Amino acid sequence: MTEPVLWLSDGSPHSPRFNDRYRSRTGGVAQAFTVFVAGCGLPQRWRSSDEFTVLETGFGLGLNFLTTWAAWEADAQRCERLHFVSVEAYPVAAADILRNAQVPELPGTAEPQLVARLPALALELAQAWQALQGGTQQLQFAGGRVCLTLAFGQVQPMLDGLDCIADAVYLDGFSPALNPEMWSHATLQAIARHCRAGTTLASYSVALGVRESLKQLGFSVCKRPGLPPKRHRLEALFVLT
Ligand SMILES: C[S@@+](CC[C@H](N)C(=O)[O-])C[C@H]1O[C@@H](n2cnc3c(N)ncnc32)[C@H](O)[C@@H]1O
Repeated sequence: MTEPVLWLSDGSPHSPRFNDRYRSRTGGVAQAFTVFVAGCGLPQRWRSSDEFTVLETGFGLGLNFLTTWAAWEADAQRCERLHFVSVEAYPVAAADILRNAQVPELPGTAEPQLVARLPALALELAQAWQALQGGTQQLQFAGGRVCLTLAFGQVQPMLDGLDCIADAVYLDGFSPALNPEMWSHATLQAIARHCRAGTTLASYSVALGVRESLKQLGFSVCKRPGLPPKRHRLEALFVLT
């Protein structure tokens, strides 16, 4: 049984379980790129590595993954291999991933080259997705140069069971007020165990509790101007070795 997604009249996907939207109503790709990809210092940071690993909480409709893949593909100086690891307790249907990749962006908000690639990449993901079962799964794309590890289950046990060191972290688990579990100190601690000195972290949430936890766990944290309608977004750097 896949997670139901409610498509609102403005075209945005909504979660009845969490009563929150999966993506910004003013542009999903723009949010994915500005908040997460650029917020983690990409594409520049992957240029100095052979392999680069992104760890995400909340795979949802895969928009952050698809946008990261499109940005990697468009970068002539990209690393040899991109590994994207994401935790998801309530996987959606492949049809919703495809539909989400078709939602038009507001003009001028996102890089047209990335937006144009999304439906084709989403189709590849959706074709692989249909065979998915529970547990941890690995999917390969781009001739094996893009690897997607999907950990299907509750965030903390899945993070505890993962064997990876992240170069970048995307925190994307609905709003902390509506879904505190994804942003709890214990969850952020489980994430910090997968970080190294220099790991970057990004989120649309600048909730005080999240910032305080991240600081206690060894991140330097700063608020940046957000993408409307959000006033701020969060960037952090893991400094504890
Ligand atoms: C805002 S959506 C993620 C959007 C996604 N990153 C994208 O690019 O489409 C948040 C996701 O977190 C998942 N989630 C919420 N609580 C969770 C939990 N306790 N453990 C694992 N996943 C959870 C939801 O099912 C949802 O798919």
